[in-house]
Amino acid sequence: MNEASFIPKSVKSTVDSGSFTWESPSNIALVKYWGKKKDQIPENPSISFTLNQCKTSTKLSFSKKENSDDYSFDVFLDGQKKPDFKPKIETFFKRVEVYLPFLKDYHFKIETSNTFPHSSGIASSASGMSALALCFMSVEKLLNDGKISNQFFVKKASFLARLGSGSACRSIEGPLVVWGEHGSIEGSSDLFGVKYPYEAHQNFNDYQDTILLVDRGEKQVSSTVGHNLMYGHPFALERFKQAGQNLENLISILKNGDLDDFIKIVESEALTLHAMMMTSLPYFILMKPNTLSIINKIWEFRKETGSKVCFTLDAGANVHVLYPEIEKETVLKFINNELVAYCENGHYICDVIGLGANEI
Ligand code: DP6
Repeated sequence: MNEASFIPKSVKSTVDSGSFTWESPSNIALVKYWGKKKDQIPENPSISFTLNQCKTSTKLSFSKKENSDDYSFDVFLDGQKKPDFKPKIETFFKRVEVYLPFLKDYHFKIETSNTFPHSSGIASSASGMSALALCFMSVEKLLNDGKISNQFFVKKASFLARLGSGSACRSIEGPLVVWGEHGSIEGSSDLFGVKYPYEAHQNFNDYQDTILLVDRGEKQVSSTVGHNLMYGHPFALERFKQAGQNLENLISILKNGDLDDFIKIVESEALTLHAMMMTSLPYFILMKPNTLSIINKIWEFRKETGSKVCFTLDAGANVHVLYPEIEKETVLKFINNELVAYCENGHYICDVIGLGANEI
């Protein structure tokens, strides 16, 4: 499929008003997306676990307006009008207008809320943009008298979400989603995320992700600035190759359930992401002293107990602690006894891999 397959042949704005609500989760990448071309075309393929608890709920209400000159919309977070969210959404509207030709015919009210605290340092762009993309797909489906297949609905929702924020295209489905063309993964595409099409070992069922909130401050580096650091980066080409190879290696690991090999890839990906930021110009250190303390504690615990707990990181200081479901009790005890002290105000969020977005 190419971009043109997502341009509707005929959509008539025949409905006067209505509303749709979708709830969409965040996701955590195992192989990271870092570096992009225009409109979130990724420089390398990535794969993520979809989360279950960390999600955004978005209600999109629409009403026909007099003219179709320009976009008209308001955004609310937890019931409060958020004019500062508008520029990002307006950019999204501009990128998706050709695929959603009804955009200028309606006034939209976007009401959104997150299950995780806004100030947690957890990025809400993946869950937020995917929820919004799904709401727009529901409008498109309505204007098409319901004549859109589920398969197309999900694909186009992911395609639109990508135009909002790259990683958002991995939040529509679950439990494992691949985004970015990869020769060994059937159906994979730079344009949208696809459900991982092969077998995953039962070791990965209900995999746990406890997010340790080390630093709840504003992001030091926006993702756009971060991705741009990969332009002209001395190690960029090797990094993009490595991501493809890591995904290749994950295919057999996901099949045979070898958690030691899984850990090697996941932790190396997290550290490589941060290494890219430390070796770019300008350079950044996004980990905090507590991030490193947590990593060292996890390594010690693994050595002492043989546990299969590991960590991954986003572009920030918070730590995602990943572990198999059978270790839930012991790892939570370890987190409570040894890691909570490194979290800001002792805060952490328990999550588990999930199956993707839901209409409410
Ligand atoms: C470090 O998807 O937030 O989380 O496409 O510019 O919106 P934009 O970036 P974004 O980048 C996320 C990068 C990451 C790694 C990942 O999720 O793969």
